[in-house]
Amino acid sequence: METFQSLLAKKLSEALANAGLPAAGELTPASDPRFGDYQTNAALVLGKQRGENPRALAEQIVAQFEAGDACELLVVAGAGFINFTLRPEAVAQKTMELLRDDRLGVAETRSPRRIVIDFGSPNVAKPMHVGHIRSTVLGDALARIAQFLGHDVIRDNHIGDWGTQFGMVIYGWKNLLDRGALQRNPLAEIVRIYKETNQRANDHPTVREACRQELVRLQAGDKENNDIWNECVALSMQDFEHVYKLLDVHYDLQCGESFYHDRLPGVVERLLQSGIAEISEGAVVVFFPDDPELADRPLIIRKRDGGFNYATTDLATVDYRVNDLKADSIWYVVGAPQTLHFKQIFQIARREGYATDLCHIVFGSILGEDRKLMKTRSGENVPLRDLLEEACKRARKIIEEKNPQLSEDEKTDIAEKIGIGAVKYADLSQYRMTDYIFSWEKMLSLHGNTAPYLQNAYVRIRSIFRKAGEAAIATSLGGVGKKTGHRPVATELTLTHPAEINLAKRLCQFAEVVPQVMNDFRPNILTNYLFELANSFHTFYEACPVLKSDEPARSSRLALCDLSARVLQRGLGLLGIKVPERM
Ligand code: ARG
Repeated sequence: METFQSLLAKKLSEALANAGLPAAGELTPASDPRFGDYQTNAALVLGKQRGENPRALAEQIVAQFEAGDACELLVVAGAGFINFTLRPEAVAQKTMELLRDDRLGVAETRSPRRIVIDFGSPNVAKPMHVGHIRSTVLGDALARIAQFLGHDVIRDNHIGDWGTQFGMVIYGWKNLLDRGALQRNPLAEIVRIYKETNQRANDHPTVREACRQELVRLQAGDKENNDIWNECVALSMQDFEHVYKLLDVHYDLQCGESFYHDRLPGVVERLLQSGIAEISEGAVVVFFPDDPELADRPLIIRKRDGGFNYATTDLATVDYRVNDLKADSIWYVVGAPQTLHFKQIFQIARREGYATDLCHIVFGSILGEDRKLMKTRSGENVPLRDLLEEACKRARKIIEEKNPQLSEDEKTDIAEKIGIGAVKYADLSQYRMTDYIFSWEKMLSLHGNTAPYLQNAYVRIRSIFRKAGEAAIATSLGGVGKKTGHRPVATELTLTHPAEINLAKRLCQFAEVVPQVMNDFRPNILTNYLFELANSFHTFYEACPVLKSDEPARSSRLALCDLSARVLQRGLGLLGIKVPERM
C-alpha cells in the first residue's frame, strides 16, 4: 500500500521530468495545514541552483503535475512553495484500505538487515544509574520498530559482569557481608559492600592490594572467588529480570562482558600482528594520529600488568557480532559520556576492515527538579526498580480517584500500564539528545503530551464500542467484516465534516511516520504523531456525534473510531507502551 507522501513524491518527480527539470527538493507534510496537506520546496531549490525565478518554475512544475485522483488542489505559495491538498474521496478510499490492513498501511522494508541492538546493559554490583532507564526504554522501542519494519533484530544485553569492581566485591563479600541484608535486598547489599570496600581501598593501600589479589585469584579460576562471583551475578540478574518484567523488555542474548573473557588475548594478538596496536611503555595501545579529536587519546587495550579492560571487551564484542552473529548493523544505545570510547572502537573496527555499519545512538541525561543529574535525597543514583514501583503507586492513586469501583486486580493491572507507560513515554517523547527534567506530575497528567492522555483517548473509543455493543463494529466498515469474512455492511466511507476528513488524513499518515523514526533514531517523531492523532480524535469526537448519527455517517464514524483506536494501540505498542481497556 502506497502512502500519499510517496505517491505524491513519485508524481512530483514525473512532473519535474516532464518539465525538463532535474530532481530537486523534498516532498514533506505541510508545515501549516491551512495551506494544504503536503508541500514541496523543489522550485525554490531549482531557482537557487539555476538562478531562475522560483515562482515561475513552480508554475511550470504544477502545469506538468498529473495528480490523478489523489489531489484536488495545487497552489504556488510564498516564494515558490507548491502546496498539495488531498481529495476527501482519495482519503476515504485509503482509509478503507487501512481498515482492512493489519499493518495499518506500514510497509515492510525492501532491504531487511540483521541488526544487533546493544541496550540497557547494566552493571552487576554497581547501582543501575538513571542512564540505564533511557537506554533500556529507547533501545526497546527502536528494537520494536525495526522489527515491525521487517528487520531481523537481535536484542543483546551487554551486562557489565566482569572487571575490576569484582576484586572489591569479593573482598567486601568476605569481610563486610551482612547475610540478613543480602536476603532482604540482594542488590542493595552487594552495592553497599562494593561501595564500602571502594571507600576503604581509597583510604588504605593494604585494602587496595587485597582487592587486587582477590581479582587475580578470580581470574586465575580460584573456586571460592568464582562461586562468590557467580552468586553476585545471579542475584543481580534476578533484580534486572524483575525490572525487565515490569518494563516488558525482552532480550534475545545476554552476552555480558564475562562472555568475552577468553577472547581478549586473541584480540590483542591480532591487533598487534596487523600493526594497528603497538607496545608503548609496557602496555598495548592503539593510537589515532589522523583524527584530531583522538590524536591525544590513545586507547589502552592491554594494561602494563597484563589486564584487559572495557575497550578490549568491546573489540571482542564487535568481532563476535560481525563474525558469529552475522550482523549487518550494530546499534549501541549508550549515553553521551561514552562517545569517545565508541569513536575509538569504531575506528579500530574500520581499520580492521569491518564493513558493518556501527552506530552509537547517544542520549542526554535525566535531571531532577533542581536541574542537576537525578539523585535520591541522600545523593545516590535512583534505583530503576524503585522508580518504576513508585510510578505504579502514583498511577494507582489516579485510578482510585477516577474509577473506584474497579476490582483490585483491574486496578493493579491498569496502574501498571499507566505508570510504566508514563515513565517510558516521558522519555521517548523527548528528542533523545536533550536532557530532560523528570517530573511525576507532568508525566502522569491526563492532559498534554503524555502516555495517560493517549491511553485515555484509546479508552474513550473502547467505551464507545462497549456502549454500542461490540456488534457495532460489525456494522462499521472493515472491522469484524474482515475477521469473519463477511462483506462489511457499507463499502465506502463518507467523509463530510472537516473534523472527519482531518482525522482520516492523520490516520493515513501513520504509515509515513513509522519508518521516519529510523532516520535518526527518533521515537519522539512517533510520540508527536500519536499526540496529534489523539487531538484530532478529540476534535472529531466533539464535533461529530457517532452513535446518535444516521447512516451512512454512523458506520463511517464508527470505522474512524475503530481505526483511531487501532493506530493508537499499535503506535504505543511500538514504543513498548500498553493500553488499558478502561481507566
Ligand atoms: N555497562 C555499561 C555502562 O553501564 C554500558 C555498556 C554499553 N555497551 C557496550 N558494548 N559497551 O555504562
